[in-house]
Amino acid sequence: MKKIAVLISGNGSNLQSIIDACQQNRINGQICAVFSNKADAYGLQRAEESAIPTHFLNPKEYSDRTDYDSALLTAIDQYQPDLIVLAGYMRILSSGFVQHYHGRLLNIHPSLLPKYPGLHTHRKAIENGDQEHGTSVHFVTEELDGGPVILQAKVPIFAEDQEEDVIRRVQTQEHNIYPLVIGWFLEGRLSMGNNTAILDGKVLSQQGYASD
Ligand code: GAR
Repeated sequence: MKKIAVLISGNGSNLQSIIDACQQNRINGQICAVFSNKADAYGLQRAEESAIPTHFLNPKEYSDRTDYDSALLTAIDQYQPDLIVLAGYMRILSSGFVQHYHGRLLNIHPSLLPKYPGLHTHRKAIENGDQEHGTSVHFVTEELDGGPVILQAKVPIFAEDQEEDVIRRVQTQEHNIYPLVIGWFLEGRLSMGNNTAILDGKVLSQQGYASD
């Protein structure tokens, strides 16, 4: 059985969607461990409820990012995972960490990349008067939120929307597309090429597999 390590910082609703997909055999694999940089991340509780090992690594106990990431890497590699999944992990990764997991490190970002890398994406979309927003699953490279996109999902933004409305709408889509992409990877259908994502032997476009 292929193994997935999941990194979180908070609520863990995406983690829950992956746990559910593994339990329902929509993903042919299992989560071997969950790692958090926040002691109070609710996702740690979600993992424990499903008997998944959890690890909290406290950034305050390490001298710098490289030091922290090297401890994290050592902890992750004890499990020999096939895939590393960032699910709301809100720390920037060192280049050594990203290189170590080259081609097997996925992230989900709440925007239609390359639009709105970084934080507060929903607010920016509303403030700019965008009529649509969305989410992207992509391979992680050293460029922040810049790795090749695998799959995006779009949602509408309505005139009366508050930030929370858009966040909720985007997250509903995230819970569908992240397990789907993880399943593709574990089935051997998905790989990273030269700054591209390749699905079933075809290089995907900048918007990933489906742009609508
Ligand atoms: C998700 O919406 C994810 O896209 C976002 O954090 C949220 C985590 O929610 N990730 C980022 O902003 C990464 N740049 P969750 O903890 O409920 O899964």
